[in-house]
Amino acid sequence: MKLTGRTVLITGGSSGIGLELAGALLARGNVVIVTGRSESALEAARLRHPGLHASKSDVANENSILDLYQTLTTRFPALDVLINNAGIMRALRLGDDRPLTDVTQEVDIDLSGPIRMVQQFLPHLRTRSNPMIVNVSSGLAFVPFTISPIYSAAKAGLHAYTRCLREQLRNTPVRVVEVAPPLTETPLFASEFKQHMPGQSGMPVDVLVRHIISGIEAGRDEVRPGQSNVLKIASRLAPGFIFKQLSKVGAT
Ligand SMILES: NC(=O)c1ccc[n+]([C@@H]2O[C@H](COP(=O)([O-])OP(=O)(O)OC[C@H]3O[C@@H](n4cnc5c(N)ncnc54)[C@H](OP(=O)(O)O)[C@@H]3O)[C@@H](O)[C@H]2O)c1
Repeated sequence: MKLTGRTVLITGGSSGIGLELAGALLARGNVVIVTGRSESALEAARLRHPGLHASKSDVANENSILDLYQTLTTRFPALDVLINNAGIMRALRLGDDRPLTDVTQEVDIDLSGPIRMVQQFLPHLRTRSNPMIVNVSSGLAFVPFTISPIYSAAKAGLHAYTRCLREQLRNTPVRVVEVAPPLTETPLFASEFKQHMPGQSGMPVDVLVRHIISGIEAGRDEVRPGQSNVLKIASRLAPGFIFKQLSKVGAT
């Protein structure tokens, strides 16, 4: 399946993986709309990629999703690809003083966000001839990362949800793909995790995006570049060992 001539919505497309993917899909002749919460980041994305459409929207807010749906299905009725990429990731210590509304942020954005987006956009996608939903999880969907417990839980949940969604839609034209990136050089990694992983670098974001596009075009259900594939295999062959290895990060 070629990723050209499509109308693609990418949540969280103002930075990192989403922004790089938006640029690559634009260059391949797709109409691309990106979302995010920060107006200034969306404006910067538009300046970087002329022709990119941007709409302020928060996947953790139901009214914001409803507004986005009304706007996009009116302006871009040919919308046929939804990429649920928006996400946050924090290192946090369980039991530290933290408001109850704050502790579940990764669940609200990284797990409930895609679930809400699919719920809202699926009826529209089903009106298209060759629709696709892409959920961006993580290699950490397969092995939890102790310093990011809520993120790990959210991404494991997204993996389970995506498998069920694919199965429920199996006899329909809607294709469901999971992209599980490995550690990737983006602001998300730089802001919180680089300090815990001295000397380690992630996959360059342009390389990741090439893997994503070629994996989708090759018809894969799960795109797991680099270390993500290693984590999936290790989670089957040596689950205790690999979990302990990942738990050493940030343990001191
Ligand atoms: N980088 C990695 O190592 C890595 C590895 C595995 C998986 N991933 C996954 O890849 C995805 C992209 O990550 P990234 O590294 O590119 O991060 P990033 O550079 O921090 O970009 C995250 C994007 O999501 C948007 N976003 C955050 N919360 C949002 C919300 N509530 N509603 C709408 N947009 C929101 C951000 O914009 P605003 O803040 O303006 O809303 C931004 O555009 C995430 O799902 C992440 O979990 C990343």
